[in-house]
Amino acid sequence: MTAHLLDGKQLAKARRKRLMERVALLRNRGIIPHLSVILPTCDEAARAYFRVKARTATQLGIEVESITLEAPSTADIVSHIKSWAHDSTVSGIMIEAPVPPGIDMQAVRNALPAAKDVDGAGIESLGRLLSGKPAFPPATAVAALALAETVGEVAGKHAVVIGRSLVVGRPLALLLLARDATVTVCHSKTRNLSEIARRADILFVAVGRAGFVTGEMVAPGAIVIDIGTNAVDGKLVGDVDASTVEPVAGALSPVPGGVGPLTTTLLLEHVVQAAERTIG
Ligand SMILES: NC(=O)c1ccc[n+]([C@@H]2O[C@H](COP(=O)([O-])OP(=O)(O)OC[C@H]3O[C@@H](n4cnc5c(N)ncnc54)[C@H](OP(=O)(O)O)[C@@H]3O)[C@@H](O)[C@H]2O)c1
Repeated sequence: MTAHLLDGKQLAKARRKRLMERVALLRNRGIIPHLSVILPTCDEAARAYFRVKARTATQLGIEVESITLEAPSTADIVSHIKSWAHDSTVSGIMIEAPVPPGIDMQAVRNALPAAKDVDGAGIESLGRLLSGKPAFPPATAVAALALAETVGEVAGKHAVVIGRSLVVGRPLALLLLARDATVTVCHSKTRNLSEIARRADILFVAVGRAGFVTGEMVAPGAIVIDIGTNAVDGKLVGDVDASTVEPVAGALSPVPGGVGPLTTTLLLEHVVQAAERTIG
């Protein structure tokens, strides 16, 4: 068996076509979807992620503004969020990761208003997700789920999520539960992780370690969604060792070309949705 590769680029392209039509409708009514981004770092990866987002947004007719804070304080970030929260021309607000150490992320999360929190990072958004009525869930988690759903429904399947971060693993587990999957979440203290992973119908991997999941951790025919992005020798690689997993899995999302490109498009969908909600 060789895994069917899940093409995030193609899926993103199809969704962007529909998104462009929605932006045109909004613009006809005098509303320009607008994303405001805090770049609180001179981190090169964060700048690269932002450039991709800004380029894609511009192609779609979405405005993007960014504020680069070289040595930000929590107060700087919160102050920008509060000002954008009250600005009716701003549809969505996000903070580009990684956020430098020393920032009180709890205070930043508390300041993000759910209606504009397009990457679902705020405390209100996370609470809504927990209650099953999300405003905007984190785009990466939505993208991972959307790719898995191209293969079939997740309802009733055993989904194993490796990673429990607030930005990926936990929200993804909640989205899967809301779709009636049976969910197991693994983390660094999980015992017998390989054995648990082998029991997954769908295995989601968000660990941040290149090649962490190998072929012997995957059940024959399982769907494997690789969320990891790691730079190794100047190349982008995932958390899944594709050379050993591809011969075993039924489907695999590649890195690059899987979750990543879809995440950008889904984030921009959230920006458009936020703008649409302002007109009811
Ligand atoms: N494609 C995209 O759009 C996108 C977006 C965001 C992130 N990512 C990528 O996704 C990956 C995860 O990101 P993140 O922000 O969730 O990372 P993170 O905050 O560092 O969380 C990593 C998670 O992996 C777990 N873990 C670490 N070592 C482990 C081990 N040996 N066994 C089992 N679990 C282990 C950690 O467990 P503990 O909780 O016990 O520490 C933690 O829950 C990274 O590669 C990141 O670059 C991709």
